[in-house]
Amino acid sequence: MDAFKPGLEDVVVAETALSWVDGEGGRLVVRGHPIEALATRSFEDVCGLLWDGALPAPARAAAIRRGLGRGRAAAFRALERVGPAALEAEDAMAALRAGVAALAAPDEPLDAAGFALAGAITVILAAWHRRSTGADPVAPDPARGHADDLLRMLGGRPAPHALVRGLDSYLVTVAEHGMNASTFTARVVASTRSDAVSAVVAALGSLKGPLHGGAPGPVLDMLDAIGSARRAPAWLRAELAAGRRIMGLGHRIYRVRDPRALVLETALAELERAGVASRYLPLARAVERAAVAVLDAHRPGRRLRTNVEFYTAVLLDALGVPRSLFTAVFAAGRVAGWLAHVAEERAVARLIRPRQRYVGPLPDGTEAGPSLRAAG
Ligand code: COA
Repeated sequence: MDAFKPGLEDVVVAETALSWVDGEGGRLVVRGHPIEALATRSFEDVCGLLWDGALPAPARAAAIRRGLGRGRAAAFRALERVGPAALEAEDAMAALRAGVAALAAPDEPLDAAGFALAGAITVILAAWHRRSTGADPVAPDPARGHADDLLRMLGGRPAPHALVRGLDSYLVTVAEHGMNASTFTARVVASTRSDAVSAVVAALGSLKGPLHGGAPGPVLDMLDAIGSARRAPAWLRAELAAGRRIMGLGHRIYRVRDPRALVLETALAELERAGVASRYLPLARAVERAAVAVLDAHRPGRRLRTNVEFYTAVLLDALGVPRSLFTAVFAAGRVAGWLAHVAEERAVARLIRPRQRYVGPLPDGTEAGPSLRAAG
């Protein structure tokens, strides 16, 4: 009888050509490219890489840019129809869930649904943000790059090049990352031959949780609560003693520092060279060092290290993105990977339907142990 693995830990659920997460070596390879090499690319380039299998030639990159622009423009036109359910939602992820669910996106996952969904996510999150601050939503400019236009729709005016570059680096870095919870969710939905919009709505729900994409906001809250490097060890120890987890540390696969942490730190260094210094970076570095030491003492041998969310929080803050939008901006990058997985899963064409082991009573009242029952 097969063993039950809580959390499906180490269970292989797909074969993929999209990415390899090397948990011991601390490497992330996306379609053959190390993540460090992709970080200088644009979100459009990585959509091409994920969706087509190779980095796009200039003509294809321009077509993707136009397609994403059309997707944003269409989503903005649909905003009225989406209405209060999205724009007055209590948080940005609830806005995305409601707004994306209302989309009449084409079912073809690549490119048509990709453009529509990636476009919609940026438009809805920006419009929700503007509404929540009492401002009017800003119409997209389809001629701009995706990252550029997202910052413009958020801030109401064009953002400096250094910020656009920083956001592109971020979106690229988080676009694809193995069989994480939201990607698995999208693949399960796709395996039922449901549509791409449904797969992305389900994935958004999965991404929202604090153990997955919901961690970066709490990372900044933690840095605020700690306040100074000196206070970090005692604060962290008290947190663990209260049974809470340290946000931005630990990972199911990585037993070393998440390679994306360094990529995001590099983006922060580039921003600093361009004159945009992060207010959190020195403290974040000190807290990271303290957290690793405290967690090593707390869980000897477990090697809980910094994950992507830790420096996501610092980078997005430096880019001027408010913390209420961190998970939604993560979704703006990850949607490229979700859709590539939806396309891959469709090609598998086999319903995902695992088994469970029944451990409840039988109608005759017997309490046979789980080892006596077939999993159904
Ligand atoms: N702080 C404190 N303890 C942690 C921890 C953290 N950040 N991460 C893991 N642990 C503990 C777990 O509670 C577990 O203890 P237990 O055996 O008493 O239950 C032990 O270390 C081993 O955990 P592990 O198997 O490595 O974690 P996981 O694979 O179940 O979970 C995460 C991975 C990411 C969900 C987990 O590390 C976590 O909750 N991190 C904080 C949230 C976060 O940053 N999420 C973003 C992920 S990209």
